[in-house]
Amino acid sequence: MVNRHKDKALGQALDISGAIPENSPISVTGTDFSEIKNSEVVVISASVKTYMKGRMERISDQVAMIHDIAKKIKKFAPDSKILMVSNPVDVLNYIFQKETGFSRENVIGVASSLDSNRFRYLLSKELKVKSSQIKNALVLGEHGDSMVPIFSVTKCNNKPVLELLSVSQIDKITRELRDYWKVIRKFKGPSLFGIAKNTVDVIRAIIKNEELSISASVMLYGEYGFSDVCLGVPVQIGKEGLIKIQEIGLNKYEKNSLYQSAEVVRNYLLTEACQIT
Ligand code: 2OP
Repeated sequence: MVNRHKDKALGQALDISGAIPENSPISVTGTDFSEIKNSEVVVISASVKTYMKGRMERISDQVAMIHDIAKKIKKFAPDSKILMVSNPVDVLNYIFQKETGFSRENVIGVASSLDSNRFRYLLSKELKVKSSQIKNALVLGEHGDSMVPIFSVTKCNNKPVLELLSVSQIDKITRELRDYWKVIRKFKGPSLFGIAKNTVDVIRAIIKNEELSISASVMLYGEYGFSDVCLGVPVQIGKEGLIKIQEIGLNKYEKNSLYQSAEVVRNYLLTEACQIT
């Protein structure tokens, strides 16, 4: 655990150490950057301050923070796989790669799999079924207000959900999905469990070489028609990090929404706060 306030890292390490199972070889330490050397995976979940209205709220400070973290990771753990959790994840993932020169296989933004799980939950509530009866709930695009739930591939008890939902239900679910984090913020503060589970899934896929198919934010070089932008797309992850980007068929509306989402992220990257110095 590394934190700009070392005491915080020490405290977290002590707390988590009390949860290590008896037969586990795991040890947890609060440390500083010099001790991340030889790490196979580094998770970046740092944040300058809690944002309340939007993930872009503290963009200048978040970008400065990522520059700093990126330099240190490049120095101490240049061969590690990076899981970017900090927000705005698509923007910070891009900036991290530009700063470090790490290959896209090694830098994965974890967020769209969380959005996909939330989508599955919202669908199950709306259709009054268990969430295990919903399959292939998938969310692509920005981890932000322009995220794109892919209704066209999602099934409920093997039936396309598009055959079961009205237009107003689709609009409602899309709105609730995009605002999901805000409700959590209002009720309890920052969300923790959902993102933790989804991050652990990716760590496990890498360190145990168990292939995982999820949506995650990665740098695109032409896939889905986009280049030089990080965006949530369906990927396969394994020992080598990003193994493959899967290009799935989308309907016209979804393609257009994904295009708009890519434009949103691109426009953020053009703002002064995001210029690489
Ligand atoms: C979430 O979606 C805020 O990105 C964080 O919970």
